[in-house]
Amino acid sequence: MSLAEKHKKIERNVTLLGALAFAVVTVGGIVEIAPLFWMENTIEKVEGMRPYTPLELAGRNIYIREGCYNCHSQMVRPFRDEVERYGHYSLAAESMYDHPFQWGSKRTGPDLARVGNRYSDEWHVQHLTDPRSVVRESNMPTYAFMKDRPLEAGDIAADIATNTAVGVPYTQAAIDAAADDLRAQADPNADSSGLKARYPGVQVRDFDGNPDQVSEMDALIAYLQMLGTLVDMDSVRAQEVER
Ligand code: HEC
Repeated sequence: MSLAEKHKKIERNVTLLGALAFAVVTVGGIVEIAPLFWMENTIEKVEGMRPYTPLELAGRNIYIREGCYNCHSQMVRPFRDEVERYGHYSLAAESMYDHPFQWGSKRTGPDLARVGNRYSDEWHVQHLTDPRSVVRESNMPTYAFMKDRPLEAGDIAADIATNTAVGVPYTQAAIDAAADDLRAQADPNADSSGLKARYPGVQVRDFDGNPDQVSEMDALIAYLQMLGTLVDMDSVRAQEVER
């Protein structure tokens, strides 16, 4: 049988064509995916990563609820233009506790993976309340209502417990203290020693400038201000040079 005839046979037999196409895609898939299980930089842990605090997690839930990911990505790609604008490219370990991850694929606005501590809390309040008042040509929607809305976080302990089911290492103590930890992070006068011990590097303050209540704005800004701040990128860079 000539090659052309063999080809003809395959093309005219749907089952054979399907089986062979499946075999080709399987081999190709394994070749692409399998190395990721052994390559060091996709599985290594990096120092500083910790699960979200209850307030940050509540802020993240608001981020997802409002669909911020429709306009913002959270993944700095390893290209020069991105690294110069946003900072060190994102490491796999930086989204290891994200369920679901917020990498995104659309950038109407800038990438937010390293926006933490880049602006003051006041800037965020102003920007979320009226984006045009700080960036005149912005087409970001206003989220002024968040400042007046009390944060509904009655289920935050359950949320944290659910995260443990997918491998996020919260302790039972963290689940039990979730509601207290949430309030303590937004109140500089509260006892936050437990919170700080459980979540190293946590930022404790009244994020929206209104001490009367924990608002949705408090939670969202707490989340934004920690993005990309947990891992010390200078030490990561130094390790890369050593290798
Ligand atoms: C319709 C698209 C759109 C949506 C939805 C959107 N944004 Fe934006 N965002 C933008 C644009 C455009 C900019 C750049 C101009 C500006 O700063 O306002 C921006 C800027 C930002 C910045 C400043 C980033 C920087 O590095 O300067 C932050 C923080 C931000 N957005 C947070 C959010 C959050 C949080 C949400 C959801 C509650 C959200 N955005 C929803 C379009 C959007």
